Amino acid sequence: MCSVVGYVGKNQSKAFVLEGLTRLEYRGYDSAGFACISPESNRLACVKSQGQLQNLLAKCKQMPVDGHLGIGHTRWSTHGAATEANAHPHFDCQKSISVVHNGIIENHHELREALKKAGHIFVSDTDTEVIAHSLEAVLPIHKRIKPAMVELVNKLEGAYAFVAIMQSFPDQMIAVRKRSPLCIGIGRDELFVASDPLAFAGRTKKVIYVPDEAFVIMKAAPRHVSDSQKSPLELALSSSETANLELYSFSGTLLKPDIQELDVDWTDTEKRGHEHFMLKEIYEQKGAIASTVKYYQQLGNNLYKQMELSKEQLKDLKSIKMVGCGTSWHAARIAQFFFEEIAKVPTSIHLASEFRYMPFFNYENSLYIAISQSGETADTLEVVRMINDKECTTVALTNVPSSTMVREANGFLLTHAGPEIAVASTKAFSTQVTVLFWLAHRIALDKGLITMRQLQVAEEDLLIAAEVLENTIDTYRKEISATLAKKYAQFNRAIFLGRHISYPFALEAALKLKEISYIFAQGYPAGELKHGPIALVDSLTPVFLFSSLDPMIYQKLVANAQEVKARKGHIIAFAFEGQKELISLADCVFMIPKVHPLLGPLAMTGLMQFLSYAIAKELGCAIDKPRNLAKSVTVE
Ligand code: F6R
Repeated sequence: MCSVVGYVGKNQSKAFVLEGLTRLEYRGYDSAGFACISPESNRLACVKSQGQLQNLLAKCKQMPVDGHLGIGHTRWSTHGAATEANAHPHFDCQKSISVVHNGIIENHHELREALKKAGHIFVSDTDTEVIAHSLEAVLPIHKRIKPAMVELVNKLEGAYAFVAIMQSFPDQMIAVRKRSPLCIGIGRDELFVASDPLAFAGRTKKVIYVPDEAFVIMKAAPRHVSDSQKSPLELALSSSETANLELYSFSGTLLKPDIQELDVDWTDTEKRGHEHFMLKEIYEQKGAIASTVKYYQQLGNNLYKQMELSKEQLKDLKSIKMVGCGTSWHAARIAQFFFEEIAKVPTSIHLASEFRYMPFFNYENSLYIAISQSGETADTLEVVRMINDKECTTVALTNVPSSTMVREANGFLLTHAGPEIAVASTKAFSTQVTVLFWLAHRIALDKGLITMRQLQVAEEDLLIAAEVLENTIDTYRKEISATLAKKYAQFNRAIFLGRHISYPFALEAALKLKEISYIFAQGYPAGELKHGPIALVDSLTPVFLFSSLDPMIYQKLVANAQEVKARKGHIIAFAFEGQKELISLADCVFMIPKVHPLLGPLAMTGLMQFLSYAIAKELGCAIDKPRNLAKSVTVE
């Protein structure tokens, strides 16, 4: 969703804020803005622009304004259209308070009405603007920041993180967190604040993850005091870091900040000769799967430590429940077959956004795995919090070790995909499938269902599937780029069919096509076709069919393909080598070498993603940043 970035310290803020926003643009890109306190006039100056961040960067070049305190924002609109007026930062009536915000103020309507009655004038449709006006209302009453903040945060409902600067306190910045992510980087005579530590990675190794329902007052100037006068925070820092900040709970109690080592790098962010991040990330999958497998091979008994589960608990699991959204939910649905067929553990999969509102049954020996590339998705995070409250075991499977989900779940598992920049998830998906396939085998080993050798074979199977994933792209890349992408870019809609484990894969394939090419694509279980969707089959609606290596499922899929052909449908088949009947029925065939039967989807992943990529490219779509989307969905 939106990202907030701020800087307070010895240097000018703009360069850091704009770079931080560039790094976090994945979180939202429909408008952006920057504000700072000009040291000359002590007044707030602001630049905003509609559209992608590059528009703001261009505008900032023409406006040389800068200052030691600066805040910035990239937006994914929730309240109000993506216009310049709705872009952050937002202001109070006097334009003396400036706020950037991520999340939702749920009671913004009531607050706005009350503030309007008191004479405040609003200029945007956003919920954020109520923060600036509310602060304008409470600051003169209390005169000091801390009591004013205690009153303010107790008025605001919802999940939010915001950063504010004020002309009346030109050397202080406020950062507030309730449920939405926010962290502070500690440099030498400078402090960074951001929604994601990626914004300041490389500038400091010290980070404070702002605790939930807390606010921080950050000051520009370092304190020069003797060791005996230093606060515990200052004592915890090395000579290369200084921090002048105070952390308070929402009730105003002074808290001791927990400084952690930052384990995030800002490297690997170039496209390395690829036209888009998505293409680069599609090609990184083979390596990402291999590093993930290697990591788990070497993990040994640390697996139990990381998962916060004993070997006995893992062995005695009565059920596994996985929650996630979008692509992560699809990975979970594929993995259901791993846990049930390999580890023999009954497994159910839930959409995080639905799960919270369903009745909850607290079964014994159940493990809840929350799957999320970013580890920040609000729907999934709220499920983790809900299950934690029920005192059941939660494990987060994410790609971001520093994410909120890793910190809040009882245990964690990591995918070793490296930063995923393109909005459409690619290598996170394939590495999630990898970890879950490995984990199913590991549970099976602990239960005595398979031998150590069989676990090693499973690891080899993953590497073979990774090889196939990449090789098949290379086999068909030329043909897709030269002819097939053009051909399939002409259709306005498509049907995606699969059965058994290839059904959730068909859902993922349909999602990939629709999110980056805007072609309407619907995934169905192939067996359901005859129960209604077959009415859609015609020569204008191509049918993508994903085969299976299970002989019985394959035969059923052939029957489904025949039903489509009988209605003059156009079939694009992802078939495994030797599947002659299906190959002869298809109008276009992608032949996939055979792999472990449950890894068929993983083997097809690269080609499926590349085909969607090539179609979207043919249509001239904004592949890395599709319209209306954001990489990290931090609102429910
Ligand atoms: C699709 C995609 C989304 C995400 C979903 C969950 O390509 O990227 O569907 O999978 O928003 O995000 P995470 O995995 O970060 O929780």
